[in-house]
Amino acid sequence: MNSDSMETGIVENSGSTQWWKEEQIRYWQETTDHYLKFGTTIQAGIFLDDSSAGESYDDNNQTILTRSGLRSGQVVLDAGCGVGGPGLYAALHTPGLEVHGITLSPYQAELAQRLIADSPASGRVHVQVGDYHKLPFPDHTFDCALFLESAGYSFQLEELFTEIARVLRNGGKVYIKDVFRRSGKMTVQEWKEIYAFCQIYVQPTPSMEDMVSALEATGFRVTSALDITPMVIPRPREKEFGLPRFRKFPVLPIHWGEIVAKYSTG
Ligand SMILES: C[S@@+](CC[C@H](N)C(=O)[O-])C[C@H]1O[C@@H](n2cnc3c(N)ncnc32)[C@H](O)[C@@H]1O
Repeated sequence: MNSDSMETGIVENSGSTQWWKEEQIRYWQETTDHYLKFGTTIQAGIFLDDSSAGESYDDNNQTILTRSGLRSGQVVLDAGCGVGGPGLYAALHTPGLEVHGITLSPYQAELAQRLIADSPASGRVHVQVGDYHKLPFPDHTFDCALFLESAGYSFQLEELFTEIARVLRNGGKVYIKDVFRRSGKMTVQEWKEIYAFCQIYVQPTPSMEDMVSALEATGFRVTSALDITPMVIPRPREKEFGLPRFRKFPVLPIHWGEIVAKYSTG
């Protein structure tokens, strides 16, 4: 087993994290237009709370905006921003909020430029291509880093959160909403399904415990780590757009989670 597979649990792949990164770029090139038929938020689950008025992606984005506590005047990193939908929603609903998105996909970044240009929040939302493990921003730039169904694509969680700590201001926050691998023992069928899921969606899907450990190992204080599965409505869009990648997973060992963590330099 190489060091990548030891970290991710995926034992048969083409090797390096670079290979996976290229495969992720191909994945978004192939699928982004399909996801856009359902809106500019590319998330597999709609997160609702007691105050949600409906079950749309706007309701999801409002839940995230409220729970992440973003405020006017703050500067936010949208790490793994897709085409910028949630960032645009946050900026439109929070006067003076500035959002900087980063996506691995050049195609998503190009589409984001058009969406930003058409938005009243243009000028406060920026999207560029890049890898969130190596950010093109100076130290201490951001009040908050958002990871909306994006941190689970990282094969190097400690490198990732070390980089996030660098760009956060003292007292800055990380807010994560994601799909996590269930921890504990798995049946053979569950193992086969999570393995196929990781291959199809090109992500290692770490457990919530792994992500919390990586945050703590890099100096973050985790203030909340919740299983939010009962508050999420899954939206398996691939079935609707008929992608060859789609398949059913009757016993997939995953759950939804939300993690909030703070970084202070002392
Ligand atoms: C499921 S989409 C979520 C997009 C967006 N957060 C949203 O809610 O619409 C996952 C995103 O993570 C991004 N991503 C994955 N690995 C990344 C990396 N190493 N650096 C930057 N972005 C990454 C992908 O490019 C994609 O935009």
